[in-house]
Amino acid sequence: MPTILVTGGAGFIGSNFVRYWRREHPAWEIVVYDKLTYAGNRNNLHDLEGQPGFVFVQGDICDREQLEPWVAKADIVVNFAAETHVDRSLLASGDFVRTDVLGVHTLMECARKHGTGLIVHISTDEVYGPILSGSADEKAVLNPSSPYAASKAGGDLLALAYAKSFRVPVIITRCCNNFGPYQHPEKLIPLMVTNALMDLPLPVYGDGRQVREWIFVEDHCRALDFLIEHGTPGEIYNIGTGCEKQNIEVVRLILQFLGKPESLIRFVADRPAHDRRYSVNWEKLRKLGWEPIHEFESALAQTVAWYRDNEWWWRQIRDSEEFKRYYEANYAWRLK
Ligand code: NAD
Ligand code: DAU
Repeated sequence: MPTILVTGGAGFIGSNFVRYWRREHPAWEIVVYDKLTYAGNRNNLHDLEGQPGFVFVQGDICDREQLEPWVAKADIVVNFAAETHVDRSLLASGDFVRTDVLGVHTLMECARKHGTGLIVHISTDEVYGPILSGSADEKAVLNPSSPYAASKAGGDLLALAYAKSFRVPVIITRCCNNFGPYQHPEKLIPLMVTNALMDLPLPVYGDGRQVREWIFVEDHCRALDFLIEHGTPGEIYNIGTGCEKQNIEVVRLILQFLGKPESLIRFVADRPAHDRRYSVNWEKLRKLGWEPIHEFESALAQTVAWYRDNEWWWRQIRDSEEFKRYYEANYAWRLK
């Protein structure tokens, strides 16, 4: 039975990918290796727990001794493990450098030693920094604005260096903003949905006219599966959709889907060094034959309905002491 190792598989995209892979490639063993930080959640994998061919390992990607045998056993590694929230990286960035840079280094060292079949390292469009016009292709200059984006750029470059120096067969992907079920309620869409469901104010940073390019998480999973089959090791692939929205448009749509009033919107102090717009040029992937299939508004409506119907999932996170501390630090002063 071939094995796929999914590091960070208990997070948002990782758990969606695991579920996708299970459905599309049922003959594979899936090993999820995840530290279970505040963002990792075994509830994200509740339907897979206990199934044959599904293994969960609690472990840190920076812990070489624990990670190495799992990398040695794997035919494919997909690395989602990361600290991922920009606002948290502005509050404290040590864990970002540790996991997003040193964690990638640890993974690359394991792969260099054991010669894994393929590694897909998940990077982000944020490494390009703000793109005020046009779109960033894979050769664009890296210009990260936040400690999060800078750490991701560091990990991304290390992985590329291991591909060049040691022929570690790694593909780098840089995707745009994801949305869908099981996204931590610190991120824009789930934060706004859950606040609206609780009739709390919706904190929109600055003028709300910042632009993000959105992809439904299942399309991201499809793109990764496609690249596992058709991608070339050592190459970078942007993953995008061309679906650009201002934040305020997204927030208004959420309120509309929930039948809640726009008076809940509160324009609050902006995020420092807030990137005005992201946009990736994903022609390289399109030319290989991949296209997104989900339309933004219907996928957003489906996502909003998922949060409305799965309060058991988000309520535990929102009620946790950890989340309350974060909310206090990031929003209390903004909402005064
Ligand atoms: P997430 O925060 O929901 O999940 C991250 C997961 O990594 C969690 O399960 C966490 O427990 C785990 N983790 C953190 N530190 C770890 C460590 N030291 N060792 C092992 N596991 C650890 O993140 P996400 O939104 O699912 O993002 C996954 C990946 O995709 C990240 O690399 C992120 O940079 C990238 N990405 C995200 C988006 C997006 O819109 N969410 C877009 C492009 C790229
Ligand atoms: O572009 C890919 C990136 O997308 C990923 O690499 C990151 O891991 C992921 O978190 C995301 O980063 P963003 O900073 O774009 O996502 P976030 O959901 O934090 O914010 C989206 C936009 O909404 C951004 O312009 C900031 C704004 N925002 C966010 C929050 C949480 C608000 O206006 N208010 C908020 O409360």
